[in-house]
Amino acid sequence: MTGLALLVPGGGGQLGHDLARHAPEGSVVHAPDRSELDVTQARSVVDALDRLVVTAKESGLPPVVINAAAYTAVDAAESAPDKAFAVNGDGPRVLAAVCSSRQVPLIHVSTDYVFDGEKDGPYEVDDVPAPKSVYGTTKLAGEYAVLRSGAEAWVVRTEWVYGESGNNFVKTIGRLEGERDQLSVVDDQRGSPTWSADLATGLLELAGLVVSGRGPAGRVLHCTGGGETTWFGFARAVFEELGADPRRVRPCTTEEFPRPAARPRNSVLSQAAWVDAGLTPLRDWRTALTEAFKANLVTR
Ligand SMILES: NC(=O)c1ccc[n+]([C@@H]2O[C@H](COP(=O)([O-])OP(=O)(O)OC[C@H]3O[C@@H](n4cnc5c(N)ncnc54)[C@H](OP(=O)(O)O)[C@@H]3O)[C@@H](O)[C@H]2O)c1
Repeated sequence: MTGLALLVPGGGGQLGHDLARHAPEGSVVHAPDRSELDVTQARSVVDALDRLVVTAKESGLPPVVINAAAYTAVDAAESAPDKAFAVNGDGPRVLAAVCSSRQVPLIHVSTDYVFDGEKDGPYEVDDVPAPKSVYGTTKLAGEYAVLRSGAEAWVVRTEWVYGESGNNFVKTIGRLEGERDQLSVVDDQRGSPTWSADLATGLLELAGLVVSGRGPAGRVLHCTGGGETTWFGFARAVFEELGADPRRVRPCTTEEFPRPAARPRNSVLSQAAWVDAGLTPLRDWRTALTEAFKANLVTR
């Protein structure tokens, strides 16, 4: 794959970290954290884009932005909707507007939480969103803003992401395995665990198509780990990887584990549009988890 002049807002997060790490050889990557590039500050966005344009000119590499910045505290968002909207709704709007004016393509990352989870099968890219939480509502606002901006932009929804950098479900279960004899984990929410290193590789493959003028006609895509499970199944798999007895993980219902934000019962996202666009589907989630452990994702 050709090198890129790549800007990754949200470079301090788990996906941002892996995008920088897996960028194709020869790329010039700028993956600033929030203190350096705050997507809620227009001046900060303009400066970063102008710098990217200069980098692209000087290096001869094609410029592209992959936005990994988000307010991801799903439960906290319920009591801080303005804060969540500023980052997830308004930030992408400003970013897309500046990308449009500089003619820089944008790949924006979104979420399964834009759906209500009531569908029985996997969600297709053109299924009607109906978020049940503040987080999902603000992420959907970001999607619409990006798609209506006039920028050459794609929205890529993903779900159940875990990576080396930052906190996530795999790390939490790894910690709890060391602290508790038994663990109850919800077994009535389905989804596809997605290793952020794999997701980063997929997004960079898309970026390669985009900068070579072969970006998919459909502007909304789904990219997740292959297969599906429940949080309970995911937790048991983490125990297996740790060499612990998976029977110590017990199933429970969502009602038994109330949270401030409503979760989709079904988060499974169809990969059909991704494959139709000629992109490589991510490997099966269980295989990826084993690889993640080999890469020392969780240490006890
Ligand atoms: N994690 C998941 O399970 C999941 C599932 C579906 C979709 N997604 C989407 O995937 C993308 C990447 O998520 P992730 O898992 O990498 O989340 P993450 O680890 O929480 O990373 C998000 C990053 O955005 C930064 N950020 C917050 N406000 C910002 C602002 N105003 N300006 C610039 N950066 C800001 C955060 O910095 P601070 O830490 O300093 O606030 C953090 O480093 C997001 O779009 C998210 O919505 C994630």
